[in-house]
Formats: sequence, structure tokens, C-alpha cells
Amino acid sequence: MIDLGTRHLVLIGFMGAGKTTVARELSRLLGRPFVDSDAELEKSLGASIPELFAEHGEPWFRDQEHLLIHELLRSDEPAVVALGGGAVGHAGTRTDLEERARVAHVDESVDVCWRRVAASDRPLARDRATFRELYATRKPLYAALADAEGRGSTDLLLGFGRIHVEEGSYGRLPDLIPGEEPFVLVADEAVLELHPPPPSDRLANIYPIPSGERAKSVEVCQSLWDDLEADRSTQLAVLGGGTATDAAGFVAATYLRGLGGWVPVPSTLVGQVDAAIGGKTGIDLAKGKNLVGAFNLPSRVVIDPALLRTLPDAQLSEGRAEVVKTGLLVGRPLWDLDLTDQVRACAAFKTAVCLSDPQEAGRRAILNLGHTFAHGLEAAGGYSGPTHGQAVALGLRAALQLSIDELGLDPGVLAQLEHALPAEPVSVDADAAWAAMAHDKKAKGGVLRLVLLEAMGKPVYGVELSPALVRAALDSLIVS
Ligand SMILES: NC(=O)c1ccc[n+]([C@@H]2O[C@H](COP(=O)([O-])OP(=O)(O)OC[C@H]3O[C@@H](n4cnc5c(N)ncnc54)[C@H](O)[C@@H]3O)[C@@H](O)[C@H]2O)c1
Repeated sequence: MIDLGTRHLVLIGFMGAGKTTVARELSRLLGRPFVDSDAELEKSLGASIPELFAEHGEPWFRDQEHLLIHELLRSDEPAVVALGGGAVGHAGTRTDLEERARVAHVDESVDVCWRRVAASDRPLARDRATFRELYATRKPLYAALADAEGRGSTDLLLGFGRIHVEEGSYGRLPDLIPGEEPFVLVADEAVLELHPPPPSDRLANIYPIPSGERAKSVEVCQSLWDDLEADRSTQLAVLGGGTATDAAGFVAATYLRGLGGWVPVPSTLVGQVDAAIGGKTGIDLAKGKNLVGAFNLPSRVVIDPALLRTLPDAQLSEGRAEVVKTGLLVGRPLWDLDLTDQVRACAAFKTAVCLSDPQEAGRRAILNLGHTFAHGLEAAGGYSGPTHGQAVALGLRAALQLSIDELGLDPGVLAQLEHALPAEPVSVDADAAWAAMAHDKKAKGGVLRLVLLEAMGKPVYGVELSPALVRAALDSLIVS
């Protein structure tokens, strides 16, 4: 993942490529303000762009544009900024972009751009032949500046996440591992049987690890630390679900104080839409799950939806709960898309949230929608009762019901879950579930802080409600 840090995210691209629309969407997904440099310029100079062009000519206009962008990129609050199509023609602006921004190129075909602007009053869209020439001249400039390229927000976010989603991509894994040095593969032993890696001179060694939660143990890490033949430049690929990528990603973070990079190749839906994205790695201790770990951003994530064809239905359902959660957070019924598009949209959304909060200091909490209740139910079932996916399906119901009652969420949102994610109340000890919820990492000073929805796509986090209300919501998920 390309760390945005406090840099501005700047969208460049040809006129008519859709920069403003994509920038608005990215601003919403990243929780950053949106700034349109053309609109700011018109406001500050008190005239429309065609008027300014006509009165002063292009060189003067570009200088004014540069001065404005220079100032914009010096503002402290990181924003999503859409630039005018010709702004990158100014050398000073190019330098500012390199120093102060992460750059996304909205890359649309020349024909679509022309269709969108032909009828406008844009000064550089007067005739089609000149338009095409200008497009051909500018395109390499855009490409040279871009950290990520693509048509829409999903493509761009996947680009920033260094996430490659392609049916059949596992079959050319060696080409997708960054660099040219040999790499090693750590793999869930059961998945390795089903999906042996493609032959390659680059593949130096394969290290099978146990399937399931057993992989997330000190013992498995110890044997990898002992056996790995790798140096600090080695890339470590990991094939498997969230357990394999959590454990091996942690080994990649810790062996030799960090290998050259790691490449999760998630083989479960949970892994493809969630666990392999965002750089959280870790293992379990006897006293609790995920208690030891590290943030370790992957050098690339290779997602091959074809790997899911061997995944048992029960495991697919586990991932579906995360897809539905993500749809509620994004504000679109992602669960109705075909599987590859679900994966793309969810991976892009998780990337956006992680980019906006890489160290989980605040906004990343929205990913816990429904999870506080889920953790309580799982713990009360001794982790052999409801599965994580079943518990999340129920937890989402409780969070949405509280959102309806307390924040005025449209009840229709909860009604959609009936077909998207059916779930029945479970039989666990309600007091034990309540006690486990109070221990949840998100509880501060004993007060639960919940993620709720104001509307589809409008999550709020850190919501404190009276314990009686939360307890009643929990009880509604449990049958005695
Ligand atoms: N790091 C994160 O941000 C993050 C996020 C969510 C979950 N997680 C972690 O992920 C773990 C759960 O991951 P999971 O649900 O992927 O479970 P998993 O890794 O245990 O995989 C589930 C089962 O499916 C099998 N399997 C995997 N791919 C297969 C395939 N293609 N065909 C057939 N069988 C296959 C595995 O061998 C295993 O038995 C938990 O430990 C959780 O804490 C981490």
C-alpha cells in the first residue's frame, strides 16, 4: 500500500476524464475534504475559465493556476484535490506534486473524454483533431506523475493498495511478485495441495503451515523463523486464508527485523475482502486472539477469485458477512454484484479506510460495524458456538436496530439483511456475552463505543449509548 501520510491526494487527467466525480467519491471514502482547483481559481479570479483564457491567454492562466495549486498543496489539512487537465503542463506544479502529493491519474479514453466535453465551452475542446493531439501529448505526462492510474475510484484505490485482482492471477504469481530476486512461499498446507504454485525459477522454497487458527501460534512462527532461508531483500508470498496471511505476514515483519516485502495471495473470501488488506498481521496467545502482531503493509496483494472455487460454502458465507458489512459502510448493495466485483469493491473500500487511518488511530474503527456484538457472541460460545461470520451477521442486526432507534436510520436498511445475510438468534449465555463485550478493545473506561449508521454509507464511530439499550440489543440476538 502506498502510504498517503499527510500528503494531499491529487487527481490529474484529461478534460472530461471524470476527475471531479471520482474526487468527490474518494473524498467521501477517505473522509477528507474535496477541493476543485478550477472552481477555486474561478472564485479567486472572479471570472470563468473560458473568460480568463480569452482575456489573458493560456500562459498567464497556467501561471495563476500554478500559484493557486502551490498554495493549496501547502495547506495543513490533507484533502482530495481535482486539478484542471492542463495543470501538469507547468513545471512548478509538477515539482509541487512530486513533493507534496500522492497523484492519481484518472485515465479515460480520448473518445469518452471528447463525448463528455464536445458540447462544452472549454477553450481547448474546440475541434476533435486538436483535442486528440493534446490528449496524446498529455497522457505520458500524467503517467509519469501518477502513483496510481485507473478509470474510477475502485481502480485507483486498488492501485494505491497495490492490489492486483484478476481471475487466474495465481497462475502467473512469479511475474506479480515485485522485483526479480528469488522469493519464498509460505502456504496453508491444505490450500497448497489444491493449488500448487506455478513452476518458476524465482520460487526459492515453499514452507507449508497448518490450516486454520493453529497457524497463528508462536510455534508456527518459531519454525518459520528457524527454517526460512531468506535475506533482508527476500519477498515472502503467502497463500491461504486470513490465518495464513496473519501469521506469515507477522513472520515477514519480524524475521531479520523485516524482509524485503510480503505478498499475500488470499484464498478465502474473508482474506480477499478483508484480512489480506491493510497490513495488520499477528498471532494468538492462550489469553486471547491477535494479541501479538505488527503493522506490515504488503508490497503487493495478489487476488485471484478463481481460488475461491474450491472454498467450501460455509467458508464463503463467512466472507459474505464482511461483504454485507462493507456494502452498508459504502452505501451500495455490494452483495448483489458478481463475486469478482464484490471482491474488488470490498478490497478498494478497506484500502480507503486504511489509507485514511493506517495505524488504526480513529476512523478505521468503522470497520468494526457489528463486530462488538459479534465478539461477545463468539466468546460466549467459547469460539465453538456461532462462527465469526454468523456472529457478525447477528451483530450487524443489533447495530442497525440501534441505528434505527437512536440515529433515525431508515428501517429499510435492516430489512435488506433478510435476503442479503439471513441469520437466526443463537443459544449462548447472555451474561457471558455481555461480559465479553465489556472487555472489547473498543470499550474505553468500561463504556462501550459502538459503530452505528446514520444512513447507508454514513457510519459514525465512538457512539456511547446507555448500557441498558446495548444490553437489550444483545439480548435480541440470543435465544435461551
Ligand atoms: N489482518 C486482518 O486485518 C484480519 C481481518 C479479518 C480477519 N482476520 C483473521 O483471519 C482469520 C480468519 O481467516 P479465514 O476466514 O480466511 O480462515 P482460514 O484462514 O482459517 O481458512 C479457513 C479454512 O479454509 C481453508 N481454505 C482456504 N482457502 C481455501 C480454498 N481456496 N479452497 C479450499 N479451502 C480453503 C483453510 O485451509 C481453512 O481450513 C482469523 O484468524 C482472523 O483473526 C484478519
